[in-house]
Amino acid sequence: MAITDEYLINAAKDARDNAYSHYSGYAVGAAIIDDQGHLHAGVNVENGAYPLGNCAEAAAIAAMVLEGGKNIVCIAIAGGKGEIAPCVPCGGCRQRIHEFANEDTVILTMNDSHDWQRYSIAELLPAGFRLD
Ligand code: THU
Repeated sequence: MAITDEYLINAAKDARDNAYSHYSGYAVGAAIIDDQGHLHAGVNVENGAYPLGNCAEAAAIAAMVLEGGKNIVCIAIAGGKGEIAPCVPCGGCRQRIHEFANEDTVILTMNDSHDWQRYSIAELLPAGFRLD
């Protein structure tokens, strides 16, 4: 079964329910479809020692790598305090996504009204660093 954008968005929203984000109150879920068509999800995990918190995208990418995924076909991100508001990846996560992205990779954000925004990695991180 091909995973649709809507399915991926719902996976990000479902993951978000388990975010550990009570310090900021900003819960984030991310869901990836990889090059093999497999789904991987992650949430932000905060810490009482604030700088040790991790972003949802980092967790989803780590899950993808663990399962052998090589490239991100699409990543959906659902974030916000209470209601879902567009959560465009932070600078660090743009670089994390870039590592596993190509020109066809889609980055999807959304709000609670199901308005979706689609970005390419070139839009979010022009001239991104790559260690060749
Ligand atoms: N956060 C993410 O998980 N992804 C992003 O792209 C932006 C921010 C998390 C980090 C922190 O736990 C909370 O959102 C507020 O910054």
